[in-house]
Amino acid sequence: MNPAYRIAVNAEWTSMCNAACSMCPRDAIAHPQRMQIDTWRRLLDRLSPEEVFRVVIAGYGEATTHPRFDEFVEAMHGHPVRFDMVSNGHLLDADKIARLDGAIDLLVVSFSSIDPDVYGRVHVKLDQRRVMANLQAAQRLFTKTRLAISLTPMPECLPTLPATIDWLKAQGIGTLTMSPTLYNRAGNQQEHALATEELRRIIRRYRLRSQELDFVPSVREVARQWLGNRFKCTPRNVDLFVAANGDYLYCYNDIGHHHPIGNVATDSIADTLRRREAMAAMPSLCDGCDMRKRYSPGELLRGAVGHMRSRLRAT
Ligand SMILES: C[S@@+](CC[C@H](N)C(=O)[O-])C[C@H]1O[C@@H](n2cnc3c(N)ncnc32)[C@H](O)[C@@H]1O
Ligand code: SF4
Repeated sequence: MNPAYRIAVNAEWTSMCNAACSMCPRDAIAHPQRMQIDTWRRLLDRLSPEEVFRVVIAGYGEATTHPRFDEFVEAMHGHPVRFDMVSNGHLLDADKIARLDGAIDLLVVSFSSIDPDVYGRVHVKLDQRRVMANLQAAQRLFTKTRLAISLTPMPECLPTLPATIDWLKAQGIGTLTMSPTLYNRAGNQQEHALATEELRRIIRRYRLRSQELDFVPSVREVARQWLGNRFKCTPRNVDLFVAANGDYLYCYNDIGHHHPIGNVATDSIADTLRRREAMAAMPSLCDGCDMRKRYSPGELLRGAVGHMRSRLRAT
């Protein structure tokens, strides 16, 4: 039997990367690796719209560096589930743009700043001019896939945020998103809540789209997730992370990939969710997590109102 709610799947084609971004915690992955094409095909077989409302191809690596990128994209053509991809944009040439067009719904390119110095300090190893040219090409060439930007929520990007937004809008790129959370930020729960509050203010002030809304299938389903899971941690329960080796992870905040709860080779999504629903907090992971308790019932209510508002704006 299917669970009473749908989730997002975060699919990691590779945990290897061509960048070394200053905020990225991916150095916690001891053995970065690439997904095998058979694992991707097995996962595709397991994805159904009744259980999954969105698959985000991201993980903790850069999907466009996968040597079998073309085959991976080809394999998902015609699949009934919605696919999105998050990329740093460095390798996004005209050929990849053409292959992705129509295969994915939304391509989200992460971009820190229009200022070359800030970009160079944050998006280490990437070529800002090349990424900007690729963004212009994607905006021009996509006929079906939509282009969006994920603005980096780092304090050092904020002074140049207005100029960055101006440049993106001048290219016709209107979907600008930001995460209200900077993961693993040092500090206590209260400092973290303040940082998130400040980012939420920035998101409102510049009329950005908050990325947390992209993980809400519907208000009713989030309520069902809440009721169905023994551990009431919304960040854990809205998403199922599939690591490059095919492991389902207990939580996408398990950046070191230490806590698998199944594998696509042997377990269905429904069975894996049922297993996780019965699981309590995992002290080695959850005690130090700065997202824990982020969504109290009051926060969830505020999120629900935000979700309904953004739906109303879209209609
Ligand atoms: C881990 S990356 C993987 C996809 C791709 N390599 C990229 O950079 O877009 C996914 C998203 O997480 C964001 N990210 C990385 N480190 C982060 C952090 N510490 N806090 C919040 N977001 C972060 C990136 O900016 C990117 O938008
Ligand atoms: S490009 Fe993405 S995965 Fe790679 S280091 Fe930067 S944020 Fe991390």
